Amino acid sequence: MEWKHRHVLDLKDWTRNEILFLLGQAKNMDDLMDRPIRKVPALRGKLVVNLFFEASTRTRVSFELAEKMLSADVVNWSASGSSVGKGETLRDTAWTLEAMGADAVVIRHGSVGSAHYLSKKLHRASVFNGGDGAYSHPTQALLDAYTAWKHFSSLEGRRLAIIGDVLHSRVARSDVQVFRELGCEVVLSGPETLMPLDVAAMGVAYEPDPRKAVKGADMVYLLRIQRERQEEGLFPSLDEYYLRYGAGEDLVARAEKGALVMHPGPINRRVEIDSTVADGTQSRILQQVRSGVAVRMALLYLCLGGVMA
Ligand code: CP
Repeated sequence: MEWKHRHVLDLKDWTRNEILFLLGQAKNMDDLMDRPIRKVPALRGKLVVNLFFEASTRTRVSFELAEKMLSADVVNWSASGSSVGKGETLRDTAWTLEAMGADAVVIRHGSVGSAHYLSKKLHRASVFNGGDGAYSHPTQALLDAYTAWKHFSSLEGRRLAIIGDVLHSRVARSDVQVFRELGCEVVLSGPETLMPLDVAAMGVAYEPDPRKAVKGADMVYLLRIQRERQEEGLFPSLDEYYLRYGAGEDLVARAEKGALVMHPGPINRRVEIDSTVADGTQSRILQQVRSGVAVRMALLYLCLGGVMA
């Protein structure tokens, strides 16, 4: 397939064929991760800057690992200690980094549209969205799809239940796009106060009771309560939240036998998920983390025109 994407901003216009092609490339990268020497010269000479305005463990570290395994030169930039503190704008920061030769910028930012904005302002560099506000987290959704696809082979006709704080979740929005494109039925569950108004427009169902939502589900996907993005009072207390919406073994037992338990991380134990489930045999949470490296390697390789020797 001829790869047409220079940037990875959201997944709105990604076709099923493109997603499946990407998953196939990620499988090659996944296999490469098992080799004794996990480095290939595919991006030798390319400079990638990781621009993180918000906290991150998984996205930041896995992008960095992916870049290094593809032999790119890597610069890690964070807002604290930078000239942003002296009033430099996002555009000027990005232009400065591009002037130093950046071929790609990975950005995580609290503002919706920040990655799209950079893609319009940068002259040559590719932009990878590592999460912008509550809008999009495309690489997370692709690694989620990869994790499930690797297990089931095909996601056509599978049912995905996403439970929790959908309103503030960029992961949920991106997951809905990619899993629906791959032929899944998606149901959202959680408190009504934590659901977006446009659930119907998203093409998914809403079932307030998680015990009903997980019926027939092949994948049970828990979301973190994003306290950093929400006002007080959207649900009574964390204890009550756990009792009504948290995933214990009893909830998972209502899903399909062997259903995958997924979570983007970081997890809050005993808030949205119990340890028996997070660390249980059905959990794919750490596999998702590993998938993050493989999927980001594949995206960098394809978008930057990597060459395998
Ligand atoms: N899932 C995810 O984006 O995790 P981080 O915030 O640790 O990157």
